[in-house]
Amino acid sequence: MQGLDTLKARYLSAIAAAADEAALEEVRLTALGKKGEISLKMRDLGQMEPAQRQAAGGLLNALKDEVEAALRARKAALGDAALNERLRSEWLDVTLPGRPRPAGTIHPVSQVMDELTAIFADMGFAVAEGPQVESDWYNFDALNMAPEHPARQEHDTFFMARTEGDARPPHVLRTHTSPVQIRAMAAHGAPIRVIAPGRVYRMDMDQTHTPMFHQVEGLAIDRDISMANLKWVLEEFCRAFFEVPSVELRFRASHFPFTEPSAEVDIRCSWEGGQLKIGQGDKWMEILGSGMVHPKVLEAAGVDPAQWQGFAFGIGIDRLAMLKYGIPDLRAFFESDLRWLRHYGFAALDMPDLAGGLSG
Ligand code: PHE
Repeated sequence: MQGLDTLKARYLSAIAAAADEAALEEVRLTALGKKGEISLKMRDLGQMEPAQRQAAGGLLNALKDEVEAALRARKAALGDAALNERLRSEWLDVTLPGRPRPAGTIHPVSQVMDELTAIFADMGFAVAEGPQVESDWYNFDALNMAPEHPARQEHDTFFMARTEGDARPPHVLRTHTSPVQIRAMAAHGAPIRVIAPGRVYRMDMDQTHTPMFHQVEGLAIDRDISMANLKWVLEEFCRAFFEVPSVELRFRASHFPFTEPSAEVDIRCSWEGGQLKIGQGDKWMEILGSGMVHPKVLEAAGVDPAQWQGFAFGIGIDRLAMLKYGIPDLRAFFESDLRWLRHYGFAALDMPDLAGGLSG
């Protein structure tokens, strides 16, 4: 049969040139489809003499096989190329780090402030604030500490610089949150129920003292508030804060110029194996100062002591944080050591609330 070699050369080069599977299919149809060139030639075999048919049939079958084999090989090669292209374009480095976690954490002092705000809010206490640079009248005089009062010396006060003949009243860095009692009562009158968390300053520095620390003041004034109410509120607070079923508090007679009577409050605890447990054991730990607000303090804030009375307390927040979260050294609170902050810090989106669990 004539021309088979040309045919073969043409198809093999067309197959090699097919750039994709569609082009390759085109070539297959032209050669081997129903009306394909090779198929038609095979149909012609029927009209041939037997001897001629045998010879031509063999050649045509060989050609068909060869073209089919070339098609298969080319198809496989095109498939590999497509796969390689996909692998290249969809390449992903699975060893890359994932999305980074938010880097910051909530400082234990902020966490404890949020916790105690949630607890006292539940008992009807609003949050009040006052300035950290405070006039000495609010910080001392209005709290029944006249300039010659000995307690004034005990406060290790930082005084703001003054020039000769300065017309402004003397100012100090507030030594406690108690001046906020005066500001809150002067602004809102009685009855009133507030807490005032914030920074306070005293010139003191050792393992248990830093020049800046945190307190939360509590104040409840109404017509017949008594020490019994104070005791209940403090017990309720400690129970909720330390997340224990019950606590035992001990009220020790004490003295503050701005409360009468005054009491320092200790909480029952144990230190077994260096582990602090609140609510059980035979040790007592002092956690706060408190008392019934002195009539002179009510007067200074414009509240009539003949009609109103109530309690106040001041708690050291840093001390609470150390107790609850087992943090041994106070000074580390304020050194901004990233390893310490990551270790003792709290997740940023875990807002403490009474229903959801205070400390997550
Ligand atoms: N202001 C006192 C102190 O800093 C604490 C206190 C507050 C005591 C309120 C009694 C009433 O030590």
